Order: sequence, then structure tokens, then C-alpha cells
Amino acid sequence: MKQELTKPQQITFDVTDRCQMKCVTCSKWKTVASDVMSKELTTQDWKNVLEKLHNWLGEGFWFCFSGGEPFLRPDIFEIAEHAHSLGIKVASMTNSFSIEHLYEKIVDSPIESLNLSLNAINNPIVHDISRGRDGSYAKTIAAIHELIRIRNQKHASLGINIATIMMPENLDEIIPLVEFVTKNKINGIMFQLMDDKESFHGYFYQKGCPTHTYKMPQMLRDEYKKMAKKATEIVDKLIEMKQAGHSIYNSYEQLNAMKVFFNNPDDILKEIICDVGTTNFAIDPYGDVRLCFNMLPVGNIKETLPEDIWINAESEKCRHLTKTCKMYCRMLNCNFKHNFANFNKSFIHKAKNKLVKILAGKL
Ligand SMILES: C[S@@+](CC[C@H](N)C(=O)[O-])C[C@H]1O[C@@H](n2cnc3c(N)ncnc32)[C@H](O)[C@@H]1O
Ligand code: SF4
Ligand code: SF4
Repeated sequence: MKQELTKPQQITFDVTDRCQMKCVTCSKWKTVASDVMSKELTTQDWKNVLEKLHNWLGEGFWFCFSGGEPFLRPDIFEIAEHAHSLGIKVASMTNSFSIEHLYEKIVDSPIESLNLSLNAINNPIVHDISRGRDGSYAKTIAAIHELIRIRNQKHASLGINIATIMMPENLDEIIPLVEFVTKNKINGIMFQLMDDKESFHGYFYQKGCPTHTYKMPQMLRDEYKKMAKKATEIVDKLIEMKQAGHSIYNSYEQLNAMKVFFNNPDDILKEIICDVGTTNFAIDPYGDVRLCFNMLPVGNIKETLPEDIWINAESEKCRHLTKTCKMYCRMLNCNFKHNFANFNKSFIHKAKNKLVKILAGKL
């Protein structure tokens, strides 16, 4: 029976490919800034995008700023304000490298949830090497503590989350990171399995890649093999910690899939059919829309209404291709529906806080 197509659940605004980091796991930073900046959607373009999405999806849906580094675009606050005025909820990712002057502004802004990337807690060098820049760890830790302090001082409700890549170099850091989250009352942590760095590419030069003939590089396969035993034990511990109440956003479904993956990556191709085709709507810095971030765009939102992109011949082709896709990015967080609900917890938390303030006569 043909599954009925609903509307997208995961909307991403990749506002720029530009980035000041040189993460070893990512290829985005290789995009040359001076070439691409003038091609990016303008502030007004993004506001128009929001209005088009609002006409289609109504109020209450949320989207996440990502990239590249979203805070390299100072206008994301203005875009977030516009979203808020339309009843749309906003989250953002960040590498925390250039946000020192923005802490107050972030806490006061309509951004409801900020996800800071952090790959280690006990060993700063592990984080800095993974990000390709010294001082990155110190900046991220400072950002976390300052944002919490300002949020609490203002009785604000910004959700502060950590996003961590799980990779061979940081396995000893995974459990301490969860302990750090719990100890510091950070809203939660989301783990993401290291994927091929070619999956994290800028969109101007690389529009898509051949997903049905993809072969995992032998080096990456060897890395996974090397980490399989230890990583499986760690994921078991994460499951225990989640059951005990630690705020780990990954669903049990994803954590269990990770264990299958570590022990034989190819099994996951049979077990999990990637459903990005029916859940994702990712808008790149130039307005091109992808359901799968590794496949070709299915339309451009400057030229076409989102609902006409969602149901068109290119989208159908993409959905068809996902069925024979041989890539492993299906292990990434965006492909596990239950994660969205968990991530949105901070929105619920914010709504609750608002209610408490109203009852206390503070608003
Ligand atoms: C592409 S970044 C964009 C946002 C921002 N620049 C940042 O790093 O937070 C989004 C997330 O992908 C993660 N990431 C980067 N390379 C990855 C890889 N090869 N596998 C899995 N996650 C990766 C980053 O650590 C970050 O949490
Ligand atoms: S992961 Fe984020 S911070 Fe690192 S290079 Fe890619 S876009 Fe930049
Ligand atoms: S696994 Fe999913 S996200 Fe990755 S390339 Fe295939 S269809 Fe796209």
C-alpha cells in the first residue's frame, strides 16, 4: 500500500556555507567565501521564505539555522524575529567560535534552542583537533557557562543543548560529556555518529553526489571497525544513563541502530530505509531545496512555492532514489523521527516557563 505523504517535519535553513573552522570531519569550510557570499539569499529572501512556509504549514512548526556557521550572518536575529512574529519556532546550531559578543542577544532573541557543538570535555585537545582550530574548546565551554548564567539571571528559557560527534578519537569523552550535561543542568545532549566528511559539503560547488553507487571509503570502514567493541559498550551505557534520567536526546531506536552499525555497517543498509524524502526540507544558502542533503536539489524556493517543490517530479525521483541509496548518513540524527520530539522538549520547557511567569504576574 502506498504510504500517504505528510508535510515535512525537519526544516533546515543552511544560511551560509561559510565557516571559520576547519573541522577534520567536514568539507564545508573548503568553500571559498568571497565567491559565495554574494550568491547567498538576502535577509529579505529568507523573510519571504518564512512567509511562504507559513502560508503552507501554518503556525507552530520549527526550523533550525545551520550551515556553515549560522552566526557568521548577523541577520539571523532579524530572520528569527520575523519567524517569531509569524508563530514559527527557531533553533540554531553553532560552533561557538565567534559568539562572545552575542550571548545577551541570543538569550533575548526568539531563538528557543541553541545547539553547541562539543566533541570532548576532559581533554580540550581532542575537541580542538577535531575542529581544526586551537581555542575552540575554551570558547565553547565559556559560551555554555555564560549562556546558562545569563539565561538564569534573566529568568529566560533558552534551551541550551550540546551536539557531539561520536568518533574513534573521543570515545573516552562520551560518558563524561553526559555527566557534564547533567551536572551543569544543560538541557540535553545529542550524539551523532561520525559520517563520511563528504556528506558535509558546501552546496555551491557540490550540488549532489551519486548516492546509489556510493562506497564507504576503506579508511572510514576501518575506523568504524576499530571503534566497534568500545563504542558498543558506550552506547549500552548511554542507554542505561538515558533510562536513569540523563537528558540524552537520541531515541532508543537510534542508539540500538548504532550498535548494529558498529558491528556491521552494511547491515544497517538492510535494516533502515532512510526516510529523509518524507521528513526533510533543507534549504541551502542559495535557495535550493533538498530532501536529501546528498542528492540534487528538487527546486528553488525563490522561484517556486514550497508546496509545489514538496510534490513535484524531482521530489518523487528523490524519494524513489532514497530506496536504493547506499550511503550511511541514514545514521545521522535528522533521519530518526523520534529525535525531533526529544529536541523539541526545550520548546515545551519554554512554553511551561512562560506559563509560570504569567501565573506569577511577571508578564
Ligand atoms: C555541519 S555543522 C553546521 C553547524 C555549525 N557549523 C557547527 O559545527 O555546529 C552541524 C553538525 O554536524 C556535525 N558534523 C560535522 N562533521 C560531521 C561528520 N563527519 N559526521 C557527523 N557529524 C558531523 C558538527 O559537529 C555539527 O554538530
Ligand atoms: S562542522 Fe560546522 S564548524 Fe566544523 S567546518 Fe563544518 S560547518 Fe564549520
Ligand atoms: S542515507 Fe538518506 S540522507 Fe544519506 S544520502 Fe541516502 S537518502 Fe540521503
